[in-house]
Amino acid sequence: MAKSLPINGTDYVEFYVGNAKQAAHFYQSAFGFQPVAYAGLETGLKDRVSYVLRQDKITFVLTGALTPDSPVAEHHKLHGDGVKVIAFWVDDARKSFEETTAKGAKAYKEPYTESDENGDVVLSGIHTYGDTVHIFVERKNYKGDFLPGFVKWEPEYQPVDTGLIYVDHIVGNVGWEKMDTVANFYRDVMGFNQLISFDDKDISTEYTALKSKVMANDNMRIKFPINEPAKGKMKSQIEEYLDFYMGPGPQHVAVATDDIVKTISALRDRGVDFLFVPDTYYDSVTERVGEIEEDIEVLKKHKILIDKDDKGYLLQLFTKPVEDRPTFFFEIIQRKGAESFGKGNFQALFESIEHEQRLRGTL
Ligand code: FE2
Repeated sequence: MAKSLPINGTDYVEFYVGNAKQAAHFYQSAFGFQPVAYAGLETGLKDRVSYVLRQDKITFVLTGALTPDSPVAEHHKLHGDGVKVIAFWVDDARKSFEETTAKGAKAYKEPYTESDENGDVVLSGIHTYGDTVHIFVERKNYKGDFLPGFVKWEPEYQPVDTGLIYVDHIVGNVGWEKMDTVANFYRDVMGFNQLISFDDKDISTEYTALKSKVMANDNMRIKFPINEPAKGKMKSQIEEYLDFYMGPGPQHVAVATDDIVKTISALRDRGVDFLFVPDTYYDSVTERVGEIEEDIEVLKKHKILIDKDDKGYLLQLFTKPVEDRPTFFFEIIQRKGAESFGKGNFQALFESIEHEQRLRGTL
C-alpha cells in the first residue's frame, strides 16, 4: 500500500468566530482550555485578532475580524462561527505542499517561513471541502509556545482543565453525492486509507439518513469521517447543517478523555449543553455491548453513550451546537479498545438530534 503523506498529528484547529474574545472566554470557562498566546492590534495585525488556547495536546485558535473587509468577517458572515483551519503537524511543510498540490490539491498558501527569537516555522496550506483549509506546520526549528507573531497570553483568569487530552477525529459534512469526491481527495492527494464506510441502510431513523466514509492516515492520528446526507422522510441533520453553514464544513471535533465521567460532569457543571439521551437508551445497552468496566447506572446518570466493535468498546457523548447556528458541535470520547466511531449509537443519537430539530422547526 502506498504510504500516506507523513503527518505527526493535529497541530491546531482554528475557528473563525464573531467575537473571539468572548469565544476564548467560553473555551476557558466551559471547557477548561488554558490561555497560551495572542495576536491582534498590539502585535501588528490590522484585520483580525486571535486567541490561542490549549488543553494537553489540543490547541484551539479563536479568530475574529477587526474590519468588515477582513476575510475572517466574510467567512463569518457566510458561515457563522465554525472551523476554518485544520492544521497538520508535519516535518516538512514545503514537501507536504509540493506533494499534495502535485496530486491535485488547490493551493491556499505557498510555503513561507515565519521567524522570531524562538526560531523558524515553515507554513503552507491547501484547500479541502467547502471553505475549509489545511495548514501544514513545520515547527522542528521552533521553541515558542505557538507561532511567530504571537505573544504570550497570561490572563489572571485560568480555570482548571476538564481532562481533555487530544483530538480523536474531525468529521466533515459535505453535499449530496459529494462524499466519494472528498474521500477520494484524501485518498489520492494525501494517501489516506478508508477505514469504514456505511450507508443509509446502516444509519437511518424514520426521518433522517446519512452516508459516511472514514479516511485516515497511516499512523491513525488523523481520522476524518466524511458524511453526506441521504434521503429520509424529512430533512437529514446533515442537510440542516449544510443549510445553516451555507455549504460543506467541519461538523464536529471529537476530543478524547481518559475519564469520561469526570470530564462530562465537569463540563455539565460549567454550562456545556449535551444532547438529550432518553433513559430508555440504557434499557437495552447491556444487551448490545455486553459487560463493561463502568457501572451502567453511573453512565446513565451522566447520560454517556456506549458502543462496541470487535476491538473493544467506547464511551461518548455529543454537545449541542456551540454557536448560534445549528452547525458545529463537539464529541467527548473515551476509547476502551474500540477503533470505531459509535455507529451503534447513531440510532439513539439521531432520535435525540431529531428531537432537537423538531424544536427548531427544521426537521
Ligand atoms: Fe464522531
